[in-house]
Amino acid sequence: MCETIEKKKVLSCIQPSGMLTLGNYLGALKNWKMMQEEFDCTFAVADLHAITVRQEPAKLRSQIYSTYALMLALGLNPEKSTLFIQSHVPEHSQLSWLLSCNTQFGEMSRMTQFKDKSAKHADNVNVGLFSYPVLMAADILLYKPDFVPVGADQKQHLEIARDIAERFNRLYGDVFTIPEPYIPKTGARVMSLQDPEKKMSKSDDNTNAWVAILDDRDTIIRKFKRAVTDSGSGVIMSDEKQGISNLITIYSAVTGKSVSETEKEFDGKGYGDFKLAVGEVVADELAPIREKYNELITDKSLLEKYFREGADKAEKVARKTYFKAMKKVGFVI
Ligand code: TYM
Repeated sequence: MCETIEKKKVLSCIQPSGMLTLGNYLGALKNWKMMQEEFDCTFAVADLHAITVRQEPAKLRSQIYSTYALMLALGLNPEKSTLFIQSHVPEHSQLSWLLSCNTQFGEMSRMTQFKDKSAKHADNVNVGLFSYPVLMAADILLYKPDFVPVGADQKQHLEIARDIAERFNRLYGDVFTIPEPYIPKTGARVMSLQDPEKKMSKSDDNTNAWVAILDDRDTIIRKFKRAVTDSGSGVIMSDEKQGISNLITIYSAVTGKSVSETEKEFDGKGYGDFKLAVGEVVADELAPIREKYNELITDKSLLEKYFREGADKAEKVARKTYFKAMKKVGFVI
C-alpha cells in the first residue's frame, strides 16, 4: 500500500523595511532556501509590520516589490512554496485581534525589541509597535508550522507566540500547533562591521556597518576591508576579538567550514588577508542573487502574478485556522 508522508510545515516572514542585509541572509534567508527542498514552506513579506515605524508611502511600495523579488532571486520557488505579501491575506490582522484579547499587557512590556525600538523612535511610540509580537504570532499560528526559521533576535517573539498559542489552546480547545524556532548554529547573530557589539542592521546610519544582499562586489570587499577589528593578530574566535570572531562566523556560515577549519586555514595569516578572503566569499555567494534580482525587478507583472497566486494559496490555509479559532471563542460563523 502506498502511504503518503506529510511534509513538516515551515513559516517565516521578513520586513520590507530598507535594504536586506547579510544578517538577514545568514540568519534566515539562506535557511529558507535550504528548507524549501524538504518542507512544506510558506514565506511572506511582512509589510504590515513595517509601518510600526514611519514609512514614506512610495518607498514602502517599492520596497515591498523589491523584497518579494529578492525572495524569488534567492531561489525560492512559487511552485514549491507559498510566497505572498502579508497584507494581502486579511486573516493576519483579524487573528491578531483575537490573540490581542488573550495576551497580557505585562507580557508585551517585557519585549526587548519594543524597549530598543521605542528608545530609537521616541517621537512615535505607537500602539502597533507595542503589540507587534501579537501580529507576528498571528502570522505564524495561522499556518500551523512545525518550524520557524529566524535569527536569534526573533527568539523572544517566537517564545511569546508559543505562549499565546498554548494559552489559547488551553482556554478554548486545540486550534494552534506549537511552533519550534529554527535558529542556525552559525550566523544567527551577524554583528555590525563597524561596531561588533551591535547587531548588523539596515537601520544603522553608517553604511559601512552592514553589507546589503544587493551590494556590488567592490562595495562588499571594501566594507570587509574596513571592518573594525582589534589591534592584535591571529584569526582566532575569542570574546576579546569580537570583530574577528564576527568575520569568522560570517566566513564559516557562507562556506560551510567549521570555526576550527577556518582558524586552521588562516593560521599564520594577517587580518588584512583574512578580511579580503571573507569579502570575496561573501561577494561570490551574493553575486548570482543580485543578477537574478536585477532581471526580476523589471518584470512587475510576473511578480504580481506570483504574489497574487501566493496570497490565494495562503488565504485558503489562513481562513480555515481563523474560522476555527473564531468558532471556539464563541463567534457565530
Ligand atoms: P526582520 O525583517 O527584522 O528580519 C528578517 C530575518 O532576518 C533575521 N536577522 C538577522 N539574523 C542574523 N543576524 C542579523 N544581524 C540579523 N538581522 C535580522 C531576523 O532574525 C529574521 O529572521 N518580526 C520579524 C518578521 C516577522 C516574522 C513573522 C518572522 C514578521 N512575522 C513570523 C517569523 C515569523 C522581523 O522583524 O524580522
